[in-house]
Amino acid sequence: MTAHSHDNIDWDAHLQRLRDADELNAPEIAQLVATLLRPTDRTVIEIGAGAGGTAAAFAAALAESGGAVTVVDGAPQLLAAARAQAEEVSDRVGVRAVQADAAADSLIEAVGQQADLVIAAFVVHHLPDQLAGLRRLVRLVRPGGRLAIVEFGLQTKVLPTDVGVGEPGLEARLIAAREDWFQQMRSEMTGSVRLPMGWTKALSAAGLVEARSWSYLVDRPAPVDGPGREAVLRRLHLLRRNAEDRISPADLAALEELLDESSEHYAGNRDDVYYLTANTVHIGTRPEA
Ligand SMILES: C[S@@+](CC[C@H](N)C(=O)[O-])C[C@H]1O[C@@H](n2cnc3c(N)ncnc32)[C@H](O)[C@@H]1O
Repeated sequence: MTAHSHDNIDWDAHLQRLRDADELNAPEIAQLVATLLRPTDRTVIEIGAGAGGTAAAFAAALAESGGAVTVVDGAPQLLAAARAQAEEVSDRVGVRAVQADAAADSLIEAVGQQADLVIAAFVVHHLPDQLAGLRRLVRLVRPGGRLAIVEFGLQTKVLPTDVGVGEPGLEARLIAAREDWFQQMRSEMTGSVRLPMGWTKALSAAGLVEARSWSYLVDRPAPVDGPGREAVLRRLHLLRRNAEDRISPADLAALEELLDESSEHYAGNRDDVYYLTANTVHIGTRPEA
């Protein structure tokens, strides 16, 4: 597997973006980790660890008891970054890094062990066969342990309905275009298989019991501060990348204005932009053997 992965995304090129997102989301990630870890849990495997913010939060949460965190990724530079992030937290937490493809059964042998908790955040939707991917991740969970995945809850919003340039409703149209991009990204993966069910049902189909979900907000109201402002600009750049071939010239021109530092509409200078998203955690337990 190359760093380009199955989805034709060069994940290593996203290191800074993922780092910035980790910084923005740090309070919610810490809360998520505190909610996920049971008092007796000592071992965690994170699949698709990105820049390592979540792995570092697990290492921090295990620092008192001691434990082990294994980070797994297909992208070598992200893997190195995630390992470094997690390693610097505590001497009492062992950190392993494994470069492996989560879409291949060789993942199991490459990781070579099971954990109390396996987590994959915003990763499974990048695998060609998501249900096969979940089944594979279940094999990394020890009997009685749990698999948690984090996936999109609600679409991220950053703009007022009427931004004062172009027609009102710009963001809704950008989101619709991004959804179209997402479906194309999925359908173009070699071996792409549809997942015609919701995530908790998929966790049950993958062999887990007591599957359930909850969601949490990342809410940075207007006016946003430095990291929040950066997150708004990151989001608008992502929407431009995903949507530029799918929207009208007028909407593209409006989006360009929002991204143009010399424009009176520049999002980086506005006091009415905000960052609001909802992520959903889906979790299930591997039955005792
Ligand atoms: C959207 S990022 C999410 C990163 C991190 N979990 C987070 O929440 O910020 C997707 C991650 O999954 C990794 N990834 C994508 N496809 C993969 C595959 N087939 N095998 C292993 N890792 C993969 C990427 O390299 C990247 O680190």
